[in-house]
Amino acid sequence: MNRDAVSSRLAGKFGRMLECHAELGSTNDRARELLALHGVSAHGAVVIADNQTDARGRLGRSWHSSGGKSLALSVALWPRDARKGVTCLPLAGALAVMKALAALGLGCKLKWPNDVLANGRKIAGILLEGRFNGDSLQGLVLGIGVNLGQGPKDFPPEIRETATSARIESGRDVEPELAASLVIESLEPLVALALSDPAALVTSAEGSWIHEQGGLLRVAAGEGAIEGRFFSISEDGELLLETGNGVEKVRAGEVTLLKLGG
Ligand code: BTN
Repeated sequence: MNRDAVSSRLAGKFGRMLECHAELGSTNDRARELLALHGVSAHGAVVIADNQTDARGRLGRSWHSSGGKSLALSVALWPRDARKGVTCLPLAGALAVMKALAALGLGCKLKWPNDVLANGRKIAGILLEGRFNGDSLQGLVLGIGVNLGQGPKDFPPEIRETATSARIESGRDVEPELAASLVIESLEPLVALALSDPAALVTSAEGSWIHEQGGLLRVAAGEGAIEGRFFSISEDGELLLETGNGVEKVRAGEVTLLKLGG
């Protein structure tokens, strides 16, 4: 990743502190170090790596991000009020990726909580991690992984049927520096909105959810699972499901579309 080709496209505050590495364990870990080194002035610092050797995904899973074909980017955040809007930050990340991919000609949908899908397959994922000192939150890291240049065989067999990339969907190569700058530029106002008015951020995502087409969902969380129909997303970013017991809130989990609506 050519640092200048990213930074020359950035006009906002996000990415003023910008690191581009050939390889890191996880960009989230390096962004966490920047928070430790610079405190509040690391807010908006961006770390990018061409390859990650120990990338993390949600729910304790690993994330496939080697081979130099994906965008791995983490943003250090230091919200003024850690109580407001923080749970909506992953949604801000997913919307930023959607906007960036739309600018590259790719229409996407969101799958709760923050997967970005192209033609029903996952093209990007978001991982929010907190940095704690005892009980006190000392910054957050918003990690974003976007599949850019992979062909079908670049994915491990177990995700080959469910993953896709910008190259597979568009049939052409996407310049990583352009994709990175589009994500960073889109992210800044969305993070600001998440932290100041999370309900407005959630409203702005209306029409983007794949579940809005109706149908039956199953959400697996820990040992259990819950089934129901999509009702809406709460202003804390929770999934509201219509079940036999009324509308139930789900905070985390993995959604499967059991039956399409319509
Ligand atoms: C998911 O499981 O959907 C979330 C994937 C998040 C991957 C990104 S890549 C950049 C950042 N660094 C990591 O180790 N993980 C996130």
